[in-house]
Amino acid sequence: MTKKGFIFDLDGVIVDTAKYHFLAWKKLANSIGIDFTHLQNEQLKGVSRVKSLEKILSWSNKAISEDQFRALMAKKNEEYLGYISKMDASEILPDVPKILDFLIDQKQSIALGSASKNAREILKKVKLLEKFEAIVDGNDVSKAKPDPEVFLMAAKQLKIKPEDCIVFEDSVAGVQAANTAGMIAIGIGEKSVLHEAHFIYNDFTEISREFLTNLINRK
Ligand code: BG6
Ligand code: MG
Repeated sequence: MTKKGFIFDLDGVIVDTAKYHFLAWKKLANSIGIDFTHLQNEQLKGVSRVKSLEKILSWSNKAISEDQFRALMAKKNEEYLGYISKMDASEILPDVPKILDFLIDQKQSIALGSASKNAREILKKVKLLEKFEAIVDGNDVSKAKPDPEVFLMAAKQLKIKPEDCIVFEDSVAGVQAANTAGMIAIGIGEKSVLHEAHFIYNDFTEISREFLTNLINRK
């Protein structure tokens, strides 16, 4: 049995923060006269803060100065942090602690691979920080998902080969990043959106111990 690396995305996989990113981006987009739909939001999942704002502006052909860009990014994060400040363990998505504990029990390596610069803060708030052997977040990487940098860095920190890593992701960009990294991508969310993943589940309640054991024992 090889030790495997299990890499978890944060927003929308471990915690239910995807809805807060949506609300904060929607408020910001609307404040500068831009519409923002759930469909557009899907394209921002997993994408860095800078790239997200670039996309929103490009959808409406809006050009702004660098200073305005910085100010808007700060405003979005301020709004988002307002939601985060009220978070507690009740916002951990169903069965996540159970899965983490099972993998730890099986002596597997666990890392976080997130685009968010607020990742550590959120993990602290929901009291899951100690579960992770390595944390790679938006402060560590220079290339946003779908670039595989975040997951390759996590694998390196775990000292596990990319092909022995399994990634849990709720975003299209993240699934693509895992695929490019040569890892197994497990989509958490809708099949129609995450069809590029190797396996897709609506949430962790659908993931059995047997499935995880097969991943661990996979040659
Ligand atoms: C990703 C989210 O995890 O992190 C994106 O899916 C978000 O929606 C990105 O834009 C960056 O997060 P933050 O917290 O640094 O703005
Ligand atoms: Mg996500």
